[in-house]
Amino acid sequence: MRVSQMGELSGGLAHELSQPLTAILARAEVARLLLDSKPCDLKAVAATLDNIISEDQRASDIIKRMRSLLKNKETGIELVDINELCQGIRTLLHMELINRGATLKIEAAPDLPNVFADSVQLQQVLINLVMNAIEAAQSVEASRRHVVMRLRKLGADNIEIAVQDSGPGISPDEQAHLLEPFFTTKERGLGLGLSICATILRRHGGTLSIENNEGGGATAFLRLPIRPVGVHVS
Ligand SMILES: Nc1ncnc2c1ncn2[C@@H]1O[C@H](COP(=O)(O)OP(=O)(O)OP(=O)(O)O)[C@@H](O)[C@H]1O
Ligand SMILES: [Mg+2]
Repeated sequence: MRVSQMGELSGGLAHELSQPLTAILARAEVARLLLDSKPCDLKAVAATLDNIISEDQRASDIIKRMRSLLKNKETGIELVDINELCQGIRTLLHMELINRGATLKIEAAPDLPNVFADSVQLQQVLINLVMNAIEAAQSVEASRRHVVMRLRKLGADNIEIAVQDSGPGISPDEQAHLLEPFFTTKERGLGLGLSICATILRRHGGTLSIENNEGGGATAFLRLPIRPVGVHVS
């Protein structure tokens, strides 16, 4: 493996682990507050601890997947229920949505076929896209911070997940650089989210594009083949 690829992978690992680690800290703080309150709601404490356990499990899945990539092992391609995966994103980003005062609507497609994909990696892609949408929506007033995930089948062989936001949209200057590693306009951004998404989608034979909406804001379009050509299915 080339040194540049190692750099990309370790940068990617740091980027992808920061979200579950932030979530674990936030939930641990909630559990601490719950324990101090009187009367103490032990059911709420237990639910918060369950959340911490699943966030930790997710962080360890990300590390495992990154290790197998480093060892050039096959990725974990399996049949994934996309409707279910998107509902899971809502659970994972629940606190983030509350803290930033944004709503997330999922327009599921009941007839959407399951796709062959690495569910951990696909989850990372969706988290990055929804996080960008939530962050973009921060720049408008609280009552207009809306994110919509829209799922549909595209022709006979592909599916599409559109992540639409109500933020400021993308300027022509930014458009050409969005997918470049380390391109960011955010004070605290690494500029790795979209380049990680593009790399993962390319490995799945899919694509990513981001366009401005007619009525303001932007939409990220993720397109995936239902059964990627040349990908080993375990
Ligand atoms: N939905 C969006 N609306 C407006 N601009 C966006 C949107 N998504 C991405 N961008 C622009 O693309 C840039 C790159 O996004 P990317 O996700 O790669 O990095 P980032 O969000 O800045 O940092 P991070 O590494 O934490 O993801 C952002 O800084 C922002 O300028
Ligand atoms: Mg980002």
